[in-house]
Amino acid sequence: MKNADSDEALESVRIQYLGRKGELADLFQAIGTVPESERREIGRLLNATKTHLLESFEKASNALQNRADNVETVDLTLPGDRLPLGSLHPLTQVTREIKSCFQSMGFTVAQGPEIETEYYNFDALNIPRGHPARDMQDTLFISEADEIVLRTHTSPVQIHVMENQSPPVRVIAPGRVYRRDTPDASHSPVFHQIEGLAVDEGINFADLKGTILNFAQRMFGSDMQIRFRPSFFPFTEPSAEYDFSCVICRGKGCRVCQGTGWIEISGAGMVNPAVYQYVHYDAEKYTGFAFGMGVERIAMLMYEINDIRYFYENDIRFLRQF
Ligand code: PHE
Repeated sequence: MKNADSDEALESVRIQYLGRKGELADLFQAIGTVPESERREIGRLLNATKTHLLESFEKASNALQNRADNVETVDLTLPGDRLPLGSLHPLTQVTREIKSCFQSMGFTVAQGPEIETEYYNFDALNIPRGHPARDMQDTLFISEADEIVLRTHTSPVQIHVMENQSPPVRVIAPGRVYRRDTPDASHSPVFHQIEGLAVDEGINFADLKGTILNFAQRMFGSDMQIRFRPSFFPFTEPSAEYDFSCVICRGKGCRVCQGTGWIEISGAGMVNPAVYQYVHYDAEKYTGFAFGMGVERIAMLMYEINDIRYFYENDIRFLRQF
């Protein structure tokens, strides 16, 4: 049996010896013709032979199986498996794009903690206790007693940067911010902002406008226009809210811009000299501008997404499109 080199060869040997009409069966048949006195002994020998043959068959069969398992059966001409490729989250992609716009204008990237003290989130930004602006952003407290909050905007990073660096300063600070909001199509209790800050001698409002215009045109095309409307933030003076021409209709007026041709982006202004006192900058010597912007808002405009919640649901059908 061990000479059989295929399943077929082994099977024919098995049939020859162990089959229903095989040689062993014939021998068992022939027991009847053996003299009575020798029958017992012959029967014992035949049974031992049968056991031996069965074992050899088992061994030979296993050996053939092992040999088959070890044979290389890779078909090198088969195309490879296509592995699913992941991609960066749309908010990561848009953040990177915004960052690289500002980096090419000479801004570096700064970071600050998401868990802040009220001092950085409010006081040093000229938003004192009891100031109505403190209610503008519904704050999530980690500890009201210890005055620890989840930052409601990225503006506290301005303070960290100015505490650690003297002018000239040119930074952007992307990151998560938190507000007590009930989620709906345009609100999320966690979202992302990018703060901008430039402080040096002789910086004026025109520098702010030029920076924002350059950003808008790089991001959305050279036909982009911007406009500033007077507004109020305690940490900037004067303050403004800035708009981009509608990225969908390019200013003609459509459903997205409610016929106005403009899309609100965020707030900006000249750094309030009151803020410089907290970081020991010479307010006589230095001026600067600051601006904010919502990453989700920019991403929603870029990709015409109409519900902010898509960003956080991790639905693969949404994510796969980026
Ligand atoms: N921090 C403000 C906000 O979250 C935006 C802002 C940033 C305004 C910088 C002026 C200057 O609404």
